[in-house]
Amino acid sequence: MRTTSRYRASTRIITAIGVVSLVAACAGNGGTTATGGATGGGYPDKNITFVVPFSAGGPTDTVTRMIAEPMAAKLGGKIVVQNVEGAGGTVGAGEVARADPDGYTVLMHHIGMSTAPALYQNLDYKPLEDFQTVGLVTEVPMTIVARKDFAPKTLQELVTHVKANASKVTLANAGIGAASHLCGLLFQTATGVKLQEVPYEGTGPALTDLVGGQVDFMCDQTTNTSGQITAGEVKAYAVTTPERVKSLPDLPTTTEAGLPQLQVSVWHGLYVPKATPPEVVQKLTEALKVALADQKVIDQMAKLGTAPVPAEDATAEAHRTKLQEQIGTWGKVIADAGVKAS
Ligand code: MLT
Repeated sequence: MRTTSRYRASTRIITAIGVVSLVAACAGNGGTTATGGATGGGYPDKNITFVVPFSAGGPTDTVTRMIAEPMAAKLGGKIVVQNVEGAGGTVGAGEVARADPDGYTVLMHHIGMSTAPALYQNLDYKPLEDFQTVGLVTEVPMTIVARKDFAPKTLQELVTHVKANASKVTLANAGIGAASHLCGLLFQTATGVKLQEVPYEGTGPALTDLVGGQVDFMCDQTTNTSGQITAGEVKAYAVTTPERVKSLPDLPTTTEAGLPQLQVSVWHGLYVPKATPPEVVQKLTEALKVALADQKVIDQMAKLGTAPVPAEDATAEAHRTKLQEQIGTWGKVIADAGVKAS
């Protein structure tokens, strides 16, 4: 079944001197700009668009905006962040695959880049053949969170509750192939329960509905849930990584909470269309490295339970190796689970 998410794009431009909202061409969309000092050498000589294939305000969007400003400063240009939501990130990824290979259209995507080939029979791009990797960005733990008045108090109680109420419990996600969908899939496999899934165009709006009590629970990245967990606006059961997250020290791991099978973290990376000139890719990689070493970025990420990847992983080669390995890993998990998006 294909997600019901509809295509929607919004644009923001980020500047080195601050975030400025612009009225975008599309009704209801805002904008923000990032500029910086010159690096020389022709590229960039116009705005670079960073495509986020999920809603504004969600975890992928948040990480993109964190690095856009220092990257723009290093590149000596402007970066426009554009949200192109739909179908678990595949709409935005497809747009970038078909964009001019000139370095002016860059995709920020996550683990979903590696799961889409197994999930979508009619996928209109091939991750390894149609994209050039630029570098890995971060790997984000996920949390299992519920509306704050949801009855279960612990992960074990949640498992018992969903087993007894499978037809009533709603599980939010950001569409087929989104990280939240994969984590929800692992939860259902681990508990042997089939739940009613509610797809959104990103976990930004899903979390808003969770806080509002419209859905029962979801898996989502700490970059989206940390604020609400700390503020007590959602109930948090566990973090899906082997270690606890420093910024959420009281939250047990899934292993500690009795569901060790549920292990997932969400890696992110930057991509350009395949035929992009190597010297342009190199400039983007160098700018990414500078952004990931920026203390402000490190601090912002730490506050949200994550960190930049080590410098050796912010390279096109390490990123491609990761993508290849993950396509294999997830292809098997998805085939075993028998899930298809279309
Ligand atoms: C996901 O579940 O894949 C993400 O949270 C998507 C997003 O950035 O909204």
